[in-house]
Parts: sequence; structure tokens; C-alpha cells
Amino acid sequence: MAQISSPPTKEIPRFDISQSVSMLFPTLLVVYDWPDSDALNKELAELLLAREKSMAKNGMQRSNAGGWQSPGNLITWPEEAFQTLKWRIETLVLNLTDQIVRDTGHKRTFRLTMDAWGNINRNGEYNVVHTHPNCMWSGCYYVQKGNPDPAIRQNGLLEMLDPREAANYLAVDNTILDGREFVDNVPGRMLLWPSWMKHMVHPFVGTGDRISIAYNVNVIEEQPQQ
Ligand SMILES: [Fe+2]
Repeated sequence: MAQISSPPTKEIPRFDISQSVSMLFPTLLVVYDWPDSDALNKELAELLLAREKSMAKNGMQRSNAGGWQSPGNLITWPEEAFQTLKWRIETLVLNLTDQIVRDTGHKRTFRLTMDAWGNINRNGEYNVVHTHPNCMWSGCYYVQKGNPDPAIRQNGLLEMLDPREAANYLAVDNTILDGREFVDNVPGRMLLWPSWMKHMVHPFVGTGDRISIAYNVNVIEEQPQQ
């Protein structure tokens, strides 16, 4: 329990203040672990490694420092694995939409537009701090972890950056109001966050291939017929 250094003039009563505290402006992060993903991930990894070889000259430069990024039309690629991934993204976004929309008393219908691209990072490669402009939700699906050196802290981890400027300007250290949010790249894990939220990927130090698929999604509400 918190103490004050000089004795109070009167005894301080302690009570449950939680009823009087609200947390304003929360920022959403979805972390969903898809079950039964091993076979899909193996297939996605093989396909992306093959694409990297065949499309080497068509790689994109986005937030990546090193590494390979595919063009953003991955969901149009014909292999079933990419169609399964597209379905997984749609499923998560539409369930999230159900969760956040207010009830208007009328049926509300939404459709999605989407870009997605593969990422392969190897030893020393990372993604600088960035946002994903011109969309609503962004996210990532983890295909393969590679073999990160366990001696390196935050090796290859995604870090979400607190959007509240100077929120860590707290005189008291180590409170629940100040924190850094790291997300482990567990294969089969799918994330969603608001596209405006800054994030980065810490350098991957190790052997093998760190493979993920990133995406941007827009949610468009269909207007009811008059
Ligand atoms: Fe990103």
C-alpha cells in the first residue's frame, strides 16, 4: 500500500476507488490464435519462399530494413493456402465488427476490401516504426518463427507503441499506466489493430526464416435500400 513520507495531519482512510475510476480512450488490439495451423503454415512458408525466389526483383520496400516483402495482392494468388488465409482475415474482421458496432435496431451489413503481403526477415532484419495509412484495420499473421537466439531480449518481436504522446511522463515508476506492449510471433497467431497505431518489429537475430503475412483492411457499410 502506498505510504507518504511525512505523517499526515489526519489518518488517511483507504477505500475501493475503482468505482470512481474510468479508463478513457482505450486502444484495441486483437490477438487470436487459430487452432490447427501447422499444415497451413508449412504450405504458406513453402509458397512464400518459392515466391521470394521467383519474384526477387518484384519485392517491395515498405517498413522493412532488409528482408523481402511481396506485392500487396497476396489474397488474389490462386493457391488454396492464400484463400484460407483470406477467409481467416475476413472471419476475424467481421467478428470484430460485430463486437464494436452499436445496435441501431436495424440489420447492418458490411463488406471488406483488403491488401495483404508476405514478409520474410532473416538475421539482422527488422521493420522501422510505421503506421499503415488509408485503411481501418491492420494486422499480421505469423507463419514461421525461424530460430531466434533466446539470449537476445525482444528478438523479432512486434512492439505496439503507446499512441498517447508523453504518456510515460509519470513521476512514479512502474505503474499500470505505463507500459510497452510486445507481441510474440507464435505461428498461427493473427492480430488486428487500428491502422493509425505506430508499431515496429525488433531485429530478428538467429537462423532460419521469420515469415509473416501483413494486411490492411477497410470495412465498408452497405447502405440500406430506400
Ligand atoms: Fe506494419
